[in-house]
Amino acid sequence: MCGIIGYIGEKQAAPILLQGLRKLEYRGYDSAGIVVCNPANPETQVTRFRSVGKIDTLENKVRGQEIVGTMGIAHTRWATHGGVTEENAHPHHDQSGKIFIVHNGIIENYREIKEVLGNGHTYVSQTDSEILAHLIGVHYEQMKKEGSCSDLRRAVEHALHHVRGTYGLVVMHTDYPDCLVAARMGSPLVIGVADGEQYIASDPTPMLAHTKKMVFLDDGEIAEVTRDSVQTFTLLDDRVVKCVEEVEWDEAAAQKQGFPHFMIKEIFDQPVVFEDAIRGRYDLKEGTAFLGGLNMTNDEMRRVKRVILIACGTASYAALVGKYAFERLAGIPTEVDVASEFRYRDPIVDDTTLVFGISQSGETADTIAALREAKRKGAFVRGIVNVVGSTIARETDGGTYIHAGPELAVASTKAYSNMIAILLLYALQFGRLKRVSIATGQRLLAALREIPAKMRLTLERAEEIQAVAEKYAAYKHFFFLGRGINYPVALEGSLKLKEISYIHSEAYPGGEMKHGPIALLSPDFPVFAIMTKNQLYDKMRNNIEETKARGAQVILLATDGDDHARELSDDVLYVPETMELLQPLLNTIPLQLFAYYIAAALGRDVDRPRNLAKSVTVE
Ligand code: F6R
Repeated sequence: MCGIIGYIGEKQAAPILLQGLRKLEYRGYDSAGIVVCNPANPETQVTRFRSVGKIDTLENKVRGQEIVGTMGIAHTRWATHGGVTEENAHPHHDQSGKIFIVHNGIIENYREIKEVLGNGHTYVSQTDSEILAHLIGVHYEQMKKEGSCSDLRRAVEHALHHVRGTYGLVVMHTDYPDCLVAARMGSPLVIGVADGEQYIASDPTPMLAHTKKMVFLDDGEIAEVTRDSVQTFTLLDDRVVKCVEEVEWDEAAAQKQGFPHFMIKEIFDQPVVFEDAIRGRYDLKEGTAFLGGLNMTNDEMRRVKRVILIACGTASYAALVGKYAFERLAGIPTEVDVASEFRYRDPIVDDTTLVFGISQSGETADTIAALREAKRKGAFVRGIVNVVGSTIARETDGGTYIHAGPELAVASTKAYSNMIAILLLYALQFGRLKRVSIATGQRLLAALREIPAKMRLTLERAEEIQAVAEKYAAYKHFFFLGRGINYPVALEGSLKLKEISYIHSEAYPGGEMKHGPIALLSPDFPVFAIMTKNQLYDKMRNNIEETKARGAQVILLATDGDDHARELSDDVLYVPETMELLQPLLNTIPLQLFAYYIAAALGRDVDRPRNLAKSVTVE
C-alpha cells in the first residue's frame, strides 16, 4: 500500500530517492518523506524532510536545500494508523534519533509493544511504525558489541521476534553510513543490485531505471546491504543464499507486477487486501467486530432504527449486500439509496437514522452531496472509504477505511470486496448488541477469516473462466440473473461487463424475468445465472429452466460439487461454498474475470474504458 525506496552507493542519494518516490506514487500519496545519512554533518549526521500531500509538495520543500549523503531511505504513505500529518509521515526514528526506518504493513500488537517499552519513550506520531523504530532502538542498545552492521541487523532481527503483523522494512543507523538493513514479512521488498551501489524498494518499479538485477526477499528474511554486497539471513540468524534475478519488465509493467492490466492485477490483489480490511477489527472470543471509527456509544447504536447506505455504481452494489447483512444480523431496516437520487428527494431521516456513505475515492460528488443532506437533517453520518484523507473521510463524523490500497483501473474490483467486508463487520457489531449470539458471531468470523483462502482457490480457476469468456466474447447482449444476496452480484457482474467491454447487458432478479424481460431471450442473448446454494436455490433453478426453455444459452455459477448445474447449463463455473452472507465475496470474482477476459479478447482499453473516469467529482 505504501511505497519504499532506499539507496546506498557512491552517488548523491537524495535525487535518486525523490525520483524513486515519484515512481512509487501510485502506491500511496497522502504524505511522503526522505532521510539521508550525512556523516560529514557532525551535529545531526542526517537530513530529513517530510510533508503531507503528493511528492510534488515534498520536492518543493526539498528544492534549494542541501542534502548531502550517499545513503538514505524514503517513503510515500497510504495512511493506516494515525491521520495524514507530517508527524505521521515516514521515516520515523527511535528514541536516540539515530535509527531511522521506513515501514510498509501493519504492526498488530503495537499497543502491547508500547506498553512493554514503558514510559521512558517519547513518541511524536500516532503510528505503529514509530513504535517499531523505538523497539529496534532498544534492542540495538542491548546488543551492540562489534560496532558493525551485523549489530544493527541482529537488533532488527531480535526486535522483529516481538512483532505480530506485516512489514516491509528498511532500517538505517547514522553511526553506520555503510549499510542498510531490510526485512520482509507479508509486505514485499526487493533489492536492486548494481556495481558499487544497491537499491531497496517495495517493488521493482523505482529501480528499473538503474538496474534490472534484483534479489526478491521472501517472508521471514532479512538482508544486510552494503555498497558492494547483499547478505541475506532468516530471522533466526541463518544464512540464506538468494539468487539474483534478471527482471525483464519495463516500468509500466512493473507497477502491474507482471499482469497485463491494472484491473486483472487488482482482481488478483483481493485475497491480500481483504486480509488488510479485516485484520485487527474483530474479537473472535466475543464473536464481534470493533470498528472504533464508528464513533458511537453502545446506547447510541441501540437507538438506531434505520440504516441508509448511500453510494453510486459498484459501491451501491456492495451496499446492497450490506443491506442483507444489516437486516439479517442486526434486525435494523436498511435501505440502499443511489446518491444522485437521495440528494434530491427530500429524504426522511432523523437522529435515529444511521447513514453510511460508501465510496472508493471518497470524492464522488453525488455521494458527498447526499451525505451533507443527511447530516443537515440530523442523521448520524459515517464513511466507508478507501482513499485516506478524501472529502468523505474528512466530512463524516467517523467511519472506516477499507484498506484496499490504490485502485488504479477505472473499473472497481478490490474496493467492492473490501466495502462488503466492512459492511459485514459493522452489521455484526450492531447485531451483537441486539440479537446475534456469541456462537453465531464466532461462526461468521471464522467463515470471514477463511475468505482469503477461498478467494485464492477461486482465482486459481482463472484459466477456465478465460476459456468460457472467450467462447462468448462475440455476443452482443447478456443477461445476468441472481436471487436474494446473489442479485447484487448479478448487478455487479453486468456493470463490469458493460463498462469495460461495451457489450449491452441487463441484470435482473430471477423471479422478475417473467414480468417482461423474458421477451428478449433468444439463442443470441446468453444468460449468466448465479445459482450458488442459498435459501432461494430451488426457485433460481426454476427460473433457469424457464430461460433454457426459450432457447437461451446458459452459463451457470454454482457451488463446488453441485452436479445438477451441468444438466441445466451450457457452461458451468464453480466457486467454493461459504456462509450465505459471505457468498458474494467469492461469487463476484468469476464475474469480474469474465468481464475482464471478454474485454481483453475484444482488445478494449481495459483500464481506461471510454467515457468513464475513476473519480466522478462532478454531478
Ligand atoms: C464501476 C465503478 C463505478 C464506481 C462509482 C462510485 O466499476 O467504478 O461505478 O463504483 O463511480 O465511485 P466511488 O466508489 O469512488 O464513490
